[in-house]
Amino acid sequence: MGPVGVGIAGLGVVGSGTVNVLTRNADEITRRAGRDIRVVTAAVRDLERERDCDVSGIELTTDPMKVATSPDVEVVVELMGGEGVALEVVMAAIAAGKHVVTANKALIASHGNEIFKAAQDAGVTVAFEPAVAGGIPIIKAIREGLAGNRVEWLAGIINGTSNFILTAMADGEGTFDDVLAEAQRLGYAEADPTFDVEGVDAAHKLTILASIAFGIPLQFDKVYIEGISKLAGVDVDYASELGFTIKHLGIAARRDNGIELRVHPTLIPKRRLIANVDGVMNAVLVCGDAVGQTLHYGAGAGADATASAVVADIVDVVRALTTDPDNRVPHLAFQPGKLADLPILDVNESRTAYYIRIAAVNRPGVLAEVTRVFGDSNISIETILQKGSGKSEEVLPIILLTQRTIEKNIDQAIEKLESLDDIVGSVVRLRVEHLSE
Ligand code: HSE
Repeated sequence: MGPVGVGIAGLGVVGSGTVNVLTRNADEITRRAGRDIRVVTAAVRDLERERDCDVSGIELTTDPMKVATSPDVEVVVELMGGEGVALEVVMAAIAAGKHVVTANKALIASHGNEIFKAAQDAGVTVAFEPAVAGGIPIIKAIREGLAGNRVEWLAGIINGTSNFILTAMADGEGTFDDVLAEAQRLGYAEADPTFDVEGVDAAHKLTILASIAFGIPLQFDKVYIEGISKLAGVDVDYASELGFTIKHLGIAARRDNGIELRVHPTLIPKRRLIANVDGVMNAVLVCGDAVGQTLHYGAGAGADATASAVVADIVDVVRALTTDPDNRVPHLAFQPGKLADLPILDVNESRTAYYIRIAAVNRPGVLAEVTRVFGDSNISIETILQKGSGKSEEVLPIILLTQRTIEKNIDQAIEKLESLDDIVGSVVRLRVEHLSE
């Protein structure tokens, strides 16, 4: 089968990110989707503007309706934002029999009920994973992974810009306006950033989460909304003294008499994982009756992170268009026959850092011998610690942290260390993962 034609309405931060991700990961994406995915046309505001992605091969137009109705397009990706033209474009795409992917939370929260009705009547899909929590696949997690649960409540940091500002406030870095300007520069903030700081964006997202969690219609107008704009730095400090971090949370909870829907700044005990979600990161805690609490964490805004969710939705649509209807999602995620023959490395070849504990007789030159062994095995030492009272001839623990190396180098070093006269017993080795790259 030939490629699937995609049309993008809006080639800003997320649109450019989407083109970049589709290009960069084209082979893997095709192996998953079962067909090549090609962006054939895109609507932009200004044809002359420089782009953050390669637009060669993409027909640019200033008319998003052309994208919505182009005969070359099977999937329309709406990334314009707003509720005016975006609604017209999505409805026109549905009427033209196109599948739609949208990152537009305002549109779904306020007009989702009519959009989904039209899509159902037309037999097309409207997918909206990128509308909530950027790159975190939270829609899929609640709708599919947690489908066996009665969801009791959920609570999330679901506006990256507010979290970016609150983190800076807690760290005493920059003024509110400076940090907001930085969030705008990084492409996190909405076109109208009052949506971020007044809680409106989080309320849009909470509306969507509540619907899929509890099976209720979208009801944006019922959400209690309070943003971070009136939060005083002094309250962030006092809360910290009391052992709390202030985060902007969206909370949806099932009660005996109905559903609570509210977004507001909230004190959370510092020891809770969600209290340590900083910067643009988002996290959503979902509590189901069977599974208990699950925490979903990741980048909540930004070009590539949001594009990750856009592309996932495009792949979902293409799988539905293309593959075996009884096995829409291939068992191993990639299409049968497209599995790669990559070798699994022997543990000898694995790369990690190490914690090493050695028992050494306290004699002049022992430390030099130990460090020479590491140098000879091409291992850099990050930290070295010697314990004990320092008495001569006493057996002392020496603890080292190495930088990343391959396992066989450390095996070689340990063998040499254990053969030294001044080393007593076996060397203890634990692997260290910083999990930061
Ligand atoms: N302005 C939004 C945020 C973008 O800061 O979270 C992602 O939806």
